[in-house]
This record gives sequence, structure tokens and C-alpha cells, in this order.
Amino acid sequence: MRILLTGASGLLGLNFGLRFASEQQITGVVYSHAFTQTPFSMIVTDLSQERNVDKLIENSKPDVVINCAAIANLEECEKKPQEAHMLNGEFPGWLAEKCDNLSIKLVHISTDAVFDGKKKGKYNETDIPKPMSVYAQSKLAGEQAVRQIDQDALVLRVNFYGFSFSGRRSLAEFFLRNLENGAPVKGFTDVFFCPLYVIDMVEYLMQAVEKQLRGLYHLCSVESLSKYDFGLHIARVFNLDANLISPITVSDVDFIQAPRSKNLVLDTGKIEQALGRATPSQAEGLARFHHDFQDGYAMRLQTLV
Ligand SMILES: NC(=O)c1ccc[n+]([C@@H]2O[C@H](COP(=O)([O-])OP(=O)(O)OC[C@H]3O[C@@H](n4cnc5c(N)ncnc54)[C@H](OP(=O)(O)O)[C@@H]3O)[C@@H](O)[C@H]2O)c1
Repeated sequence: MRILLTGASGLLGLNFGLRFASEQQITGVVYSHAFTQTPFSMIVTDLSQERNVDKLIENSKPDVVINCAAIANLEECEKKPQEAHMLNGEFPGWLAEKCDNLSIKLVHISTDAVFDGKKKGKYNETDIPKPMSVYAQSKLAGEQAVRQIDQDALVLRVNFYGFSFSGRRSLAEFFLRNLENGAPVKGFTDVFFCPLYVIDMVEYLMQAVEKQLRGLYHLCSVESLSKYDFGLHIARVFNLDANLISPITVSDVDFIQAPRSKNLVLDTGKIEQALGRATPSQAEGLARFHHDFQDGYAMRLQTLV
């Protein structure tokens, strides 16, 4: 399959590209990080310009576009709302238009953050989103544009962790780096989520493409936990000192501006039924994350730049 992968330098895109480079014909699209050592080719372009998007799709004519490009940092989105709305909200619609016209399969990545977290229990695909931050509003606008324009597109609301080229992109890397250095950290006891190890994420995503799924699905771990408990699990799996992690609540901190939902727990029933298998538990995902670390994967990513 010829796959055009936007956001190919990001946490999700880079791991997707590395996992499938030997099996699929992948072209990555990046903006400020043009790696030279990846096993797939890279195109540098600014996707917040519509003419660049048109040119990119017309020139490459892939079978599938996987859209992982975004401004995914909540605080950055609060500071640059125009840029966030352009890339997260407008650009997916331009992409959907092009893909729909040329019969190219589009997979668009959205987020668990589209909900306000007030629901008791898991969110499923029929629950009404109520975004709280600029990031969440812009991401909801993006997924709505895609779904309106391209009925064949697959939209996945996700949450994941894993290794990035900078070593600073995911919550798991934050806990791991600090605990390894013996530095004390804090973890929220009142924010619940269901993160999936990114390599599991990209494999489920690929299976969803092969099964030709379309429409909206929630894809994350079947098991939820607090961010504090996630830190404790990492300490345990990596045999690090869990006492370095102190419990805090969202109201205890003043260093975050973007409003955040405390319940980010998604129901994975729809995708599990479509793919015929459950998504991994936290123990399964973290075991694989640990195995890849032992295998030198995190270090390898940092040599790609
Ligand atoms: N991380 C999570 O847990 C999480 C949770 C829920 C949803 N998501 C969603 O998952 C997707 C991937 O997130 P991620 O964590 O992998 O993001 P990331 O690590 O921040 O990567 C963002 C990517 O977008 C690219 N990009 C930014 N501005 C661009 C522009 N103007 N033109 C072209 N490309 C541009 C970046 O390219 P350069 O680096 O080359 O500039 C980078 O490759 C996003 O849709 C995000 O909303 C993530």
C-alpha cells in the first residue's frame, strides 16, 4: 500500500512509520523536523496552507493518507489559537475534500479530549462532545469536517504513550526520565485516562485500515487508570522508586492554563467488535513498552535526527 503519513516526526507518526516501513510504501510529511535517517522518505511542507495540501495529494496520489499532523500540545494551542484552529480544525477538511475527490482512504486522528469529563463512566461514540480547551475545540472541528465531507474516512479518537525522538513527548517518558534520574514527580489522582502503547496503537490502526473500517471509533486501552497510578505502574515495571511520585489533584496546580477534562475514559467496545479482539490492558502495554526500551528502541529513535 502507498501510505502518505502526515505528522511523521511526531510521537504517533514516527512510530507508525518505523513499525511499517518494511511492509508498506510510506512517505512521511513533516514540517520542522526533517529526519535523514528514517527508513522511509520525507517531504517537508506546511500543511496549514491549503495550496500545499492540494499539491501534496495531487503529486503523491497515495492509496491511504494517515493524518497524524496536529498542534497536539494543549498549552501551545491556548497561546496560538489561530494556528491551532488552522491545523487541527481547517486542514483536516481540506484533506478530506481532496481524498474524497480522488477516492483515497483517509484515516484522521482525533482525541479523547473532545469530552468535558462530566459523564460518570466511559464515553462511547454516540456521546455528545463538549470540548473545554482551544486544543479540544479545534480537534472537534477537524473531526467534524472530515466526517461531513468524506463518508468513507476513518476517524479515530485516541490516547497513547511511547518513545519519541526527543524523549519528551509522552507522559510515560516524563515519568521514566525523572524516576531514572531520582527526581521527584507529581501525578494527578483525579484525572482518569486509558493510554495505549503507541506500537499497539499503530498495529490496531493498520488492522482497521485493512478491514476497511469507516466512521468514528474510540481506540485506546481497554483499561483505565489515574495518571498517578500510571506513574506507579511505570515505576514498578522499570523497577524504579515509586516513592518519588507524589499524588496531587488538578486543583493543586497553577502551571496549566488549558482546561482539562478529568474523565478521559473511552469505551472501546465498538472497535473491539469490529476488529474481533480486545485492546491491550495496561500490564500488556507496559510490558511491551519495557521490552522495547530494553531492546534499545528509545535510544534508536534519538539517533534518527
Ligand atoms: N499524544 C497523545 O497522547 C494524544 C492523545 C490524543 C490525541 N492525540 C492526537 O494524535 C495525533 C498525533 O499526536 P502526536 O502526539 O504524535 O503529536 P506530535 O508528537 O506533537 O506531532 C505533531 C506532528 O505534526 C506536525 N506538524 C505540526 N505543525 C505542522 C504544519 N504546520 N505542517 C505540517 N506538519 C505539522 C509535526 O511536524 P514537525 O515536528 O516536523 O514540525 C509533527 O510531526 C494528533 O492528531 C493528536 O491530536 C494525541
